[in-house]
Amino acid sequence: MIRIAPSILSADFLRLGQEIRATEEAGADMLHIDIMDGHFVPNITIGPFIVKAIKGATKLPLDVHLMIDEPDRYLKDFITAGADYLTVHVEASVHLHRTICWIKDSGAKAGVSLNPATSIWTLDNILSEIDIAIVMSVNPGFGGQEFIPGAINKIKELKKIIKERSLNTLIEVDGGVTPDNAKAVADAGADILVMGSAFFNSTDYKTLTKNLKQLLNG
Ligand code: DX5
Ligand code: ZN
Repeated sequence: MIRIAPSILSADFLRLGQEIRATEEAGADMLHIDIMDGHFVPNITIGPFIVKAIKGATKLPLDVHLMIDEPDRYLKDFITAGADYLTVHVEASVHLHRTICWIKDSGAKAGVSLNPATSIWTLDNILSEIDIAIVMSVNPGFGGQEFIPGAINKIKELKKIIKERSLNTLIEVDGGVTPDNAKAVADAGADILVMGSAFFNSTDYKTLTKNLKQLLNG
């Protein structure tokens, strides 16, 4: 079953509590939370304090995507805040294996994310250790960007390797996913679709989610 993870980056932050409730009621599977530090990516978003507040407002699993330099410095804060899935970028991690082990030992699911220019083979030695691989289909930093078509082949190749090795690693695709390309992304091998602007700019979250699930899961 393909899961839908709306990214609150495109939510109305003045009404964040209502937006989260509406997302949950719409039938989303998890909540994607984008953490940006103004170093690894040009933009700055939110920190553990807000993640903790969100945790108290929803039963949805929190899928926390760290787009920050030196992620190790903040892992504990985000786990304590309530991250169920915690993802770091391969480009920002020096001791990735240690980082992944630390996240898993803390009881969360561990993810690793790849920028569009980063090869899937950077995951070769870590793939069996991680719960989620995020294939970025935009350059991270902003919502509302265009899907980079080259991501489709990356997803296919990564799926092939995961199958060959009989792993349970899930592929999450993040950036520019819309109802128009969702089927192609899922058919390529995605298990989780992040959807920011396409979700929160829609007028009816429930109908959108229902139609997506029908399209993707039958
Ligand atoms: C991009 C973020 C994405 C973003 C997705 O840096 O990691 O999660 O919010 O938003 P859309 O779906 O609008 O591309
Ligand atoms: Zn993200």
